[in-house]
Amino acid sequence: MIASQKGTRDLLPPETRVWNGVERTARGVFALYGYDEIRTPAFEATELFVRSVGESTDIVHKEMYTFTDRGGRSVTLRPENTAGVARAFVEHRLAQAGGVHRLYYVGPQYRYERPQKGRYREFRQIGAEVLGAADAATDAEVLVMLFDFLGRLGFTGLSVALNSVGTEEERPGFVEALRAWFSSKEGLLDADDARRLEQNPLRILDSKNPKLAEWLADPSLPAMIDFLSADSRRHHEELLALLTSFRIPYRIEPRLVRGLDYYTRTVFEVTAQGLGAQDALLGGGRYDRLISDLGGPKTPGIGFAIGEDRLLDVLPADTRETFLGEGSPQVAVVPLGPEDVAEALALAAELRRGGIRTDLDTSAKGPGRGIKGALKKEIPLVVLLGEEERRTGTFVVKDLATQKQDECPRERLLDEIGARLRPSQAT
Ligand code: HAM
Repeated sequence: MIASQKGTRDLLPPETRVWNGVERTARGVFALYGYDEIRTPAFEATELFVRSVGESTDIVHKEMYTFTDRGGRSVTLRPENTAGVARAFVEHRLAQAGGVHRLYYVGPQYRYERPQKGRYREFRQIGAEVLGAADAATDAEVLVMLFDFLGRLGFTGLSVALNSVGTEEERPGFVEALRAWFSSKEGLLDADDARRLEQNPLRILDSKNPKLAEWLADPSLPAMIDFLSADSRRHHEELLALLTSFRIPYRIEPRLVRGLDYYTRTVFEVTAQGLGAQDALLGGGRYDRLISDLGGPKTPGIGFAIGEDRLLDVLPADTRETFLGEGSPQVAVVPLGPEDVAEALALAAELRRGGIRTDLDTSAKGPGRGIKGALKKEIPLVVLLGEEERRTGTFVVKDLATQKQDECPRERLLDEIGARLRPSQAT
């Protein structure tokens, strides 16, 4: 037997119904906010991620699936989708059309991480990006949409952790203060962290080194928020005021920097109970330089990505049940003998035309087997059809919950079945 690769998963039915329900909800909500779908390739030039996500990030440094293709090019399976969206935006000159571009995506991403619960090598993200709007109202609207989506899935009690990482111009003062602070704590940094402090000091704030954890909580550690320019501070405060007025629960986390280099100003994360301490349900932020860094016109951007695998892990039970139910067959049509199969096919076709999800048992091995099969699939109603029914132009319907059985005229098929389906199952 050839098994699936470490860190990858097969998503099997009926669980795939839950995935579809979540994705349907996302598409529906995002459309309400004016977003359109974008689909970018699963692999890109390696250089794209090096230049956008950043050379010294964990993702680029040690988590990428990079290989040389048969043509000698270095390509990488996308570890995230913002870079691909930005690349497509530049390549197709979308900025030329002017205005604000609202895009969303749903799809697999790849990171060579140590697999564990909620952490996979192939995982799926639902993400959204807004390109061409720099104002704090856009940041607020992105978060409002996100909470609208999470709310419709039945999540309550979530809050967003927020910070501002400022702009490139604002960082030198902070970096200097950070370096000074760490240089007074000799021996604290391991080789990885020492390299980070040298190359990209912000990265030290999301170091996974347990020894550092306690120090990162030290109130004397410099916070980026204290080094913001007046403009960035205004942006941040405007956002907070808007979130308050929209009743989006937030908390400021001065150490939040996120593990990708392209962020400017607003960064945010939502964590959920049950995912483990470090594991965020979603993350995002503003990236006002990414498009121009990739050779496009100066275009601000902001977005987020939700880890769909994690979202499903903590999805409220009611929502899960609803999505499972929405996909399941409502009726099983059971021909009693082989000579009844053709008529059973016609019955099933009529039910399906009427919008009723119908399972057809073509094995025609008698009522006992047919009913057993329906019970196993949790189908509530069975339509039985034998020689007698064909002769009299009738069918027998059996409700498996009540065991009640009725004979009905063939021409009343849709009405009779429709009336028997419980309201939640009627389409
Ligand atoms: P990220 O924080 O790297 O951001 O990933 C977003 C989410 O993807 C995480 O919060 C997590 O739920 C999920 N995720 C990441 N790695 C894994 C994994 N190995 N297994 C399962 N789930 C995982 C980004 O990817 C940015 N592109 C977000 C963004 C969009 N920023 C601006 N626009």
